[in-house]
Amino acid sequence: MEFNIAVLAGDGIGPEVMDSALEVFHKVTANSTHTFKLTKANVGGAAIDVEGEALPASTLSLCENSDAILFGSVGGPKWENLPADKQPERAALLPLRKHFELFANLRPAIIYPELKDASPLRSDLVKNGLDILILRELTGDVYFGQPKGRSGSGMEEEAFDTMKYKRYEIERIAKIAFEAARKRKKIVHSIDKANVLTTMVLWREVVTEVHKAYSDVTLHHQYVDNASMQLIKNPSQFDVVLCPNMFGDILSDEASQITGSIGMLASASMGAPESRWGKPGYSFGLYEPSGGSAPDIAGKGIANPVAQILSMAMMLRYSFKMEAEAVRVESAVRSVISAGARTSDLLMGNPNAKSVNTKEITQLIVNQL
Ligand code: IPM
Ligand code: MG
Repeated sequence: MEFNIAVLAGDGIGPEVMDSALEVFHKVTANSTHTFKLTKANVGGAAIDVEGEALPASTLSLCENSDAILFGSVGGPKWENLPADKQPERAALLPLRKHFELFANLRPAIIYPELKDASPLRSDLVKNGLDILILRELTGDVYFGQPKGRSGSGMEEEAFDTMKYKRYEIERIAKIAFEAARKRKKIVHSIDKANVLTTMVLWREVVTEVHKAYSDVTLHHQYVDNASMQLIKNPSQFDVVLCPNMFGDILSDEASQITGSIGMLASASMGAPESRWGKPGYSFGLYEPSGGSAPDIAGKGIANPVAQILSMAMMLRYSFKMEAEAVRVESAVRSVISAGARTSDLLMGNPNAKSVNTKEITQLIVNQL
C-alpha cells in the first residue's frame, strides 16, 4: 500500500517533538512493505503568520487527500489577542476535528510499574501500574453546540454556550467504549452530571441502553466531580472511562498527570469506520499529543517528545494496521524510560534519573529500535 500522511507540526514545541516522532517513524518503517508519502503543511499560529489564517484551504485539502494526519500542537501567546474565532485552537484544531467527524478520541494513560516514581500519587496507589483508557467524545457537547455568543451591554452583558447531545452521537461513542472494554478488563465508567444537566440525563439513558448488548462488560455511572476525586483516590478501579467532550478534556489532563506528565499522553481521534476519508478498509485518523504547545519551554530543546512519538505509534496501529511496529515503538519508549532517562517534566521523585533533552531521548529510542 501507499499511504499519504499530512504532517502538521504547528506551534510551540510542536515542530521539535514532531521532528522526534518523524525520526522514530522513519526508523521503524525502514523495512516496511508499505510506502509512505509525508507532506508537511502549516497550521495554527504558524499558518496565520505565513498564510493569514490558522487552517489554510491548502492544508485542509492536503488532509482530505491523506490517510492520516500527524498533528503537533497549536496556539501560543503571540496569537492570544486575535479575535476568538481567529485563534489557532478555535480556527484550526476544532474545525479539523469537526470536518473529519473525528468523534472518538482515545487517550491511553499508562503507568508501567517500573515508572511509578514519576507519578505524583503515593506509591501504594500505583505500585501495580495503571492502564486507563480515557475515551472522549470529540465533536459534540458544549464545544460545538449552537447557539454560542454574546449579547447585551453593561451589567446585563452576557455570554453563552450550548451543551447539547443527539442520541446518535452518544450511541456511537458508547459502542466504541464497550467494544474497547471487551479487549481489556471489561469495565466502563461512564462520566456525566446527570444530577444537574438534562443533556447528561440523556447521556446516561443512552449509555445504559447501549450497554444491554454488552452484558459481559460491567458499566458504572459516575458523576464527573466524583470521578475527578476517584482518579486520585483509587485510580486502579478504572479501565475504560467514557466521557462527554468537556469532561473528557478535563479528566484526561488529570489522568495524564497521574502517569507523571502530560508529556506522556498520546491520543488518536477517529471517525466512523465508514468515513469517506482515507482508504477503504483503513481508518482515517488524526494523531496528536494530548498536551498543548507549551510556549514556556518552546525552542529550548527540552520538551518531552514521548506523547508525539506514541501518537505516531497509534497512527501505525489504527490507520495502517501495523500493530507489530506500534508495539515496537511503545516497547522502545518503555525501555528507555525504565533505564532512567527522563526529560525535565519527569524528573520529580527519582534521584537516580538521568536528565536528557529532546534530541537525546529521541536518539535513545531510535537506538532501541
Ligand atoms: C485538548 C486541548 C484542546 C481541547 C484545546 C487546545 C482546544 O485542550 O485536545 O485536550 O480543549 O480539546
Ligand atoms: Mg485538553
